[in-house]
Parts: sequence; structure tokens; C-alpha cells
Amino acid sequence: MSVPGLSPRSVSDDDWPHMLRLDATNFGHVTDPAALSAWRTLIHDGAALVVADGPDVVAQSSFLDLQLTVPGGAVLPVAGITWVSVAPTHRRRGLLRSMFTDLHDRITTPIAALTASEGGIYGRFGYGPATVRHEWSVDRRVALFRSDAPDPGGVRIVTPAERVDEFAAIHDRWRRSTPGGLVRPRALWDDLLADRDEDRAGGSALFGFLHADGYVLYRTHGSGPRHVRVVELTAATAEAHVALWRALCGLDLMERIEAGTHPADPLPYLLTDARTVRTTAATDELWLRLMDIPAALQARTYAHDVSVVLEVDDAFRRNGGRFALQIRDGRGVCTATDAAPDIVLGHDVLGSLYLGAHRATAFAAANRLRANDSELVRDIDRAFVSDVPAQLGFPF
Ligand SMILES: CC(C)(COP(=O)(O)OP(=O)(O)OC[C@H]1O[C@@H](n2cnc3c(N)ncnc32)[C@H](O)[C@@H]1OP(=O)(O)O)[C@@H](O)C(=O)NCCC(=O)NCCS
Repeated sequence: MSVPGLSPRSVSDDDWPHMLRLDATNFGHVTDPAALSAWRTLIHDGAALVVADGPDVVAQSSFLDLQLTVPGGAVLPVAGITWVSVAPTHRRRGLLRSMFTDLHDRITTPIAALTASEGGIYGRFGYGPATVRHEWSVDRRVALFRSDAPDPGGVRIVTPAERVDEFAAIHDRWRRSTPGGLVRPRALWDDLLADRDEDRAGGSALFGFLHADGYVLYRTHGSGPRHVRVVELTAATAEAHVALWRALCGLDLMERIEAGTHPADPLPYLLTDARTVRTTAATDELWLRLMDIPAALQARTYAHDVSVVLEVDDAFRRNGGRFALQIRDGRGVCTATDAAPDIVLGHDVLGSLYLGAHRATAFAAANRLRANDSELVRDIDRAFVSDVPAQLGFPF
């Protein structure tokens, strides 16, 4: 039930200081106004909403103008939903739902994306987790590279703030070939490398390693035995990946290295004892909602031929329906149809399948994707798999 008399409206310039305070209250982290200015360069007119109760902003949400790489390398405009907040004094009265209804009416891109503070919120709005992140703790003291592991070298210690152009060029090469990759504009690079105290989570200033095809940004944490927390490791080649990990593992006085990565990261295979790499968590990262199902399904490439009628259930916007998808030689043709469905699935499930990080057979086992022909479901697995693992381009 929504709050009587309170409805979303577009933001005015006067709202932003109030929005900063609401965001800080909910997330327990004060965003610097300079950081807000950087992110606002990606929020265009009409892409930010607030709900005001008298003079107070009590709810807000926005979307960023992003560019997302999909399997096969096409880059699509995407609405990156962010700054979602409802005041603790006004929660669970329907304000998020009323803002999302209005916000999604304003989105014209084929895909909408977000990252989620909690896993239970966004499925009902047709979003599915589309990348998988593994959190690692590497016991650096005992981690040894195998004798046959490559040792390409070429890593230099750098001062991060002085290397923005090199980092940006490497990230740009990496994101073009990585499903989930995002164009990161210069304003966001400057924001990251501003390295403000409040962004350090109690850790040191940023340290950096640079290779011709990769870089690491990291902080050290703790007193006594210190450990490394990787902020970002981007490797455009396998050589850069091993060279950067060798440099990190060369930090003799650091007890362990904590880093986030994708499930197919080859580091454990490079070590004499893969158990020195402990996965401490497996989480969602990028969530997707296909706003224009035919356009999104036709933009990516596929690894297997299949012909299927999908019935997509969209309880949020009634934007689902039946779609015939014909995949031949890697390309898909998708059109609305009245034909009987072969597969029935939720809108959120389609979002989860899109980048190839989750399998149709797993959703079928959970009764969230239903089909009479189990071989067809395996064909969907074969078609949607991506040879490059999906990863989030950068947090937003
Ligand atoms: C999460 C948050 C935005 C929800 O706002 P809200 O106005 O209370 O949400 P609504 O009342 O509109 O609820 C909409 C639906 O989501 C559900 N929901 C809301 N918050 C939820 C949560 N944290 N977990 C699971 N479900 C949730 C409601 O039950 C409701 O379900 P229904 O409409 O299907 O019955 C708000 O609690 C908040 O600002 N939290 C702190 C900041 C945050 O986490 N922001 C999200 C950043 S990604």
C-alpha cells in the first residue's frame, strides 16, 4: 500500500543535498559531493526521481547512462539503476514500488541493470543476478607457483593517481571482450583515483602494480600481520593475470590477499596447492532486466543452434509474453508470437541466463523454468553459455 499523497517526481537541483543525506543515512557512508558530481555526469534529465514528504526527501532512485558488453562483443545502452533509497521512517509502504513503476516508464534502453544491497528485493521487479563473484582469501605465506607456471614479469610499482590513462586504456580493452563489461568514463576514473579517506574502509591509500596488459589497485589493512585487499585487478591477457598475481604473492610481509573474481579465474591452477585459494563467499554482482526482450536476445551471440518459443512471465510491468527465438550459426532472431510455448520462465530468470553465468538446467531443477522437453533445456544451456566469463565492469 503506497503512502497517500506521496508520489515520485523528477529531481530539482535543490534536492541533491537532501538526497546525499538520505543516502548517507541508509548506507552509513557519507558520499563526498565531488563523488556525487562525477556520478551525476551519467544521470541525464528525467533519470532521477524523488519522493518528498513536505520539505523532506524520503525516497529516491536514479539511472545512469551506461554501455554494456554482451556475449559476442556487442555493446548496448543500458540504464544502470542506482541511488535507490527509502527513508527508514517511510519503508515498506510501497515507495520503492511506486518509484520503480515510474522510473521504468522512463527507461528506453533494451536492458536495465543494477547491483543489489540485498538479494531478496529485485527479483519481483524482473531482475535476475547475471554475474557470479567469488570472494577469495589467498594464504600468501604458503601459496607457491608451480614450476611450469608462466613467469612473464613486466610488472612495475606505480603511483595510481599518475597512471589513469594506462589503467583506462587497459580497462577499455578488457571490457570490450568481457560480458558485463562497462564503459568507464573519465569522471569515474578520477573519482576512483581521488582515493578519499571515506572510501578506504579503514585501509591504506591505494597501491598500484602496472603491466602492459593489466593492473592491480589494492590497499593494505590491519596492524601486526597486515593483509592486502584488492580493489581492482584487471587483466586483458592471461600473461598479465599471472604476472600480477605473482607480484601480489611477492608481498612477503602480507599475510593474505583478499580479492573478488569470477568462478573460472585460473589462479588455483597456477599454484602447487589450490587449497591456498579459499573461496569465502559466492555472491551476485550485476543484475539484469531485459526491457526489450527481442532486441536484447538478438544483440548477443550464441554457441549452439536451437529453436524455441519462450513464455516470459513479467508480474511487474506485464511486458513479458511469448517470443520465438531461432538461433542459427551463432545469431538469434527473436519475434513476438502466439505459438504454444516450449519453455515458461520468469522475467528474472531470463535476466540471469542472458550473460551465460547461470544455467537453464539449474533453474529447471528449481521449477523456475518449466519445459516438457529436457533436451531443449540442455540446448538452452549449450546456446547461452559464454566462453568469456561474465563480470561486472565496475561497481555502481
Ligand atoms: C530496500 C528499500 C529501498 C525498500 O523500499 P520500500 O519502500 O520499503 O519498499 P516497498 O514498500 O516499495 O516494497 C516493494 C516490495 O519489495 C519488498 N521489499 C522491500 N524491501 C525488501 C527487502 N529488503 N528484502 C526483501 N523484500 C523487500 C516488499 O515486501 C514489497 O514486496 P511486494 O510489493 O511484492 O509485496 C528500502 O528499505 C531501503 O532504502 N533500504 C536501505 C537502502 C537500500 O538497501 N537500498 C537499495 C540499494 S540497491
